[in-house]
Amino acid sequence: MVPLIFILHPPHARTVLIYHGWKLLLSGFKIQSWAYFRGFYGRGQLDEGWANTMDLAGKVCLVTGGTSGIGAKTALMFAGRAAHVAVAARNPRSDTFEKLREVAAPHGHEPLFIQADIGNAEACARTVTETCARWGRVDVLVHSAGGPVPGGFFEVTEQSWGRAFAVHVHAVLWLARAAVPYMIKQGEGAILLIGSAAGLRGCLGAMAYGVAKGALPQFARSLARELADYNIRVNCVCPGVIRTPFQAFLTPEQKEHNIKNRIPLHREGKPEDVARAILDLVENDFITGENLVIDGGMTMRIA
Ligand SMILES: NC(=O)c1ccc[n+]([C@@H]2O[C@H](COP(=O)([O-])OP(=O)(O)OC[C@H]3O[C@@H](n4cnc5c(N)ncnc54)[C@H](OP(=O)(O)O)[C@@H]3O)[C@@H](O)[C@H]2O)c1
Repeated sequence: MVPLIFILHPPHARTVLIYHGWKLLLSGFKIQSWAYFRGFYGRGQLDEGWANTMDLAGKVCLVTGGTSGIGAKTALMFAGRAAHVAVAARNPRSDTFEKLREVAAPHGHEPLFIQADIGNAEACARTVTETCARWGRVDVLVHSAGGPVPGGFFEVTEQSWGRAFAVHVHAVLWLARAAVPYMIKQGEGAILLIGSAAGLRGCLGAMAYGVAKGALPQFARSLARELADYNIRVNCVCPGVIRTPFQAFLTPEQKEHNIKNRIPLHREGKPEDVARAILDLVENDFITGENLVIDGGMTMRIA
C-alpha cells in the first residue's frame, strides 16, 4: 500500500497537532491508571512492595479439628476474613461454634459443622462432599484434627500405632484426594498440615505420635511438588507447646519446667500464635512445600 502524505498548512496543522496531543495525553493517562491499578490491587506485576495474596473473602475453608484449640482459632480467623467456614470433629461444641457464628454473621455467612471421625477414609471423603454440597467448592483445607497418642517404644500397640497414623497422616491423603479435584477445577487451592515439634526431635514417651507427626513436613513437600502445576499450595506448621486442651495432661510442674528451661522465649504458645501463621501461609500465594516451626525457639536450642 502506498502511504499517503498530506502537507498541512496552518491553521489545519495546528488542529491536527492539538488532536494528537490530546490522544497522547489520554493514552498516557490510561497507561498510568492501569499501572496504578495493577500495582495496588494486582498480582505483583509491579515491584511496589504489594505481596501476592489469596483473597479469602467468599472462599470456602474446611478446618478439621475446627471446634477446639488451634483449629478453632484458625476457623475464626478465616471467618473474620469473610470466608465461608466448615469445621469437622467427632463432637459438636456449642461454645466454639457459637463464637464462629458470631464472627461469620456480619459477613452474611453461616458456618457448617460436620460430625466425622477423621480417622477413616469414608469420613474424610464425606467431610469434603458435605462442604461442597453447601457451597459448591473448597478452596482451603486445614487438617488440624488430632490428639496425643501416649506410649513409648515398649508401650505402643498395633492399635495405637495405626490410630496415630490414620488420624494424623492417612487422613491428609483421604481429605486431599477428595478436595483436590475441586481445587483443580477452581484453578487455585491451599492445603495446610499441622505437624509438631515432637516430630522434629527425639520424642520421649510418644513414639507413634512423634513418628506420625515427623511424616507431615515431608508429606507437605511431596504433595506440594505434585500439585504446584495446578496452582495448589501445600504447607505445614510445626507447633511446640501450645496451651489448648491437647496439653491438659501436663502437670503444673511440667508446665513450669517448660517455661523456665525448655522454651527460650519463656512462655507457652497460644492457639492464635499458630492460627496467625497458618493464615499467613494460606494467604501468601508464593509459598509452597514449606514447614514453619512455631515453638518459641524450643526446637532450635542445643542446651
Ligand atoms: N497443642 C499443642 O501443644 C500442639 C503441639 C503440636 C502439635 N499439635 C497438633 O495440633 C493439632 C490441633 O491440636 P490442638 O492443640 O488444637 O488440640 P485440641 O484443642 O484438643 O483440638 C483437637 C481438635 O481435633 C478434633 N479431633 C481429634 N481427633 C479427631 C478425630 N479422630 N476426628 C475428627 N476430629 C478429631 C477435636 O474434636 P473432637 O475431640 O470432638 O473430635 C478438636 O476439635 C493436632 O494435630 C495436634 O497434634 C498441638
